[in-house]
Amino acid sequence: MGGLAFLLLPFLAPMATTAVNPALRALASLNLQVFPTFQPNEVNNYSVYYFEQKVDHFGFYNTKTFRQRYLIADKYWKTYDGVILFYTGNEGDITWFSNHTGFMWDVAEKLKALLVFAEHRYYGDSLPFGEDSFKDAKHLNFLTSEQALADFAELIRHLKRTVPGADGQPVIAIGGSYGGVLAAWFRMKYPHLVVGALAASAPIWQFEELTPCGVFMKIVTEDFRKSGTKCSESILRSWGAINRLSNTGSGLPWLTRTFHLCTSLNSEDIQRLKDWISETWVNLAMVNYPYPANFLKPLPSWPVKVVCQYLTNPYMSDSLLVQNIYQALNVYYNYSGESRCNNISETTIGTLGSRVWGYQTCTEIILPFCTNGIDDMFEPRAWDLEKYSDDCYKQWGVRPRPSWITTVYGGKEIHSHSNIIFSNGDLDPWSGGGVTEDLSDTLVAVNIPEGAHHLDLRSSTDTDPPSLQLARSVEVRHMKQWISDFYGNYRKQP
Ligand SMILES: *[C@@H]1O[C@H](CO)[C@@H](O)[C@H](O)[C@H]1NC(C)=O
Ligand SMILES: *[C@@H]1O[C@H](CO)[C@@H](O)[C@H](O)[C@H]1NC(C)=O
Ligand SMILES: *[C@@H]1O[C@H](CO)[C@@H](O)[C@H](O)[C@H]1NC(C)=O
Ligand SMILES: *[C@@H]1O[C@H](CO)[C@@H](O)[C@H](O)[C@H]1NC(C)=O
Repeated sequence: MGGLAFLLLPFLAPMATTAVNPALRALASLNLQVFPTFQPNEVNNYSVYYFEQKVDHFGFYNTKTFRQRYLIADKYWKTYDGVILFYTGNEGDITWFSNHTGFMWDVAEKLKALLVFAEHRYYGDSLPFGEDSFKDAKHLNFLTSEQALADFAELIRHLKRTVPGADGQPVIAIGGSYGGVLAAWFRMKYPHLVVGALAASAPIWQFEELTPCGVFMKIVTEDFRKSGTKCSESILRSWGAINRLSNTGSGLPWLTRTFHLCTSLNSEDIQRLKDWISETWVNLAMVNYPYPANFLKPLPSWPVKVVCQYLTNPYMSDSLLVQNIYQALNVYYNYSGESRCNNISETTIGTLGSRVWGYQTCTEIILPFCTNGIDDMFEPRAWDLEKYSDDCYKQWGVRPRPSWITTVYGGKEIHSHSNIIFSNGDLDPWSGGGVTEDLSDTLVAVNIPEGAHHLDLRSSTDTDPPSLQLARSVEVRHMKQWISDFYGNYRKQP
């Protein structure tokens, strides 16, 4: 999480051998670490509230409740013709999302909006069983997207009942990444509670066979291919170089020294080393922003381009190639020049939240990833559900249900829904599993050619490319339309 404690992604350890985990690992952290940090100022001023939620919305036996945290900002709210913008919280501390969703703060005045940020159960302060929430599969049993959406629904009805003026107001769901997925699903499942949804970088089709499993890493590769001559080829060749070097007697200590690793490599660590490197390329693709981003480790603008300056010749000797890979990694891990050593058990930073994100990716949120080394710059790895399932069972005591999300949320059969904006950045690997073409007049796609992972939800800056400014204005136009449609219909009622 931007500027916060340096934690590793704890779920990774046992999952580290799962088929193509870099992307998965990256998803866990996507919202939590990788964005430019715009410090909240006096405009970003919220009050914190708690709402008593049922632990189980879908059964009657368990009557336990817990406190869900939510944030409210009402500085610009107008009860006569305003709107409630409702952030459908995702896998982390809700104050972090509030701090980093500058878009909502930026449009609040224009839309006369009440801002609400609702925390996702099992994250941040919203723990159904306190510290025991993470104890075992029995306590984690109520961590599902359906329960989270039901929490949001109950909370909206509560606000409408209790906040004077809220009752006659339209609500719009907004979220990014998994939060964007939730925003879209929320509009589909609870259309009577929200007039529309802005689903930013929401990979609703990254499930099952809705999207070919190789697309994600192909987009990562494309970002590198476009950012420098021979860049992706150099990376593709580097795996063989690492493999060959690790087979020589002096190779392991040499690799340890060359990559400035904290601990000595042995031969079983080579896969982990390569996964750590792959994951770094994935993270870089996600944060390939047009302006310098300063999260835990500051990055230059267009960091992939900077990385690619070191990777222009794939045909040099193995050792020179690997040294160049190290230089490239240094852009990510050591831009400040202050890193002492590289720890391949750590990626960038994670949060407590990612602890249970691993559980979600082992139950409902099954995102198949694969590589073939032809359409992408990675070593070939098939999607192996059986092995994935075994790893999940080992770690969490549960097995995935890969078809469930499609059963509940409709997969590609969602044309009967309405009023959802799907925004995507072409540079974002998650756009591959997103909706990038209009599905109807009211299920619309907004594509940002220069965009990485939900760039549009960030605060606006002076250096925003025109395509980003345009995307935001299209989003606001749709939202205004939904709001005026609401008031047109609402005020007509007797
Ligand atoms: C934040 O909002 C509260 C209540 O609206 C107000 O009293 C306080 O002065 C605000 N703080 C800042 C820094 O704007
Ligand atoms: C959000 O911003 C507030 C105010 O600056 C800060 O106190 C808080 O730690 C931030 N939360 C996170 C999770 O970054
Ligand atoms: C590397 O990271 C792991 C996981 O956080 C940690 O346990 C270990 O102490 C770290 N090693 C070093 C040398 O920093
Ligand atoms: C980071 O950069 C500094 C300064 O160039 C260098 O001394 C240090 O060894 C680098 N750290 C790593 C882990 O490569």
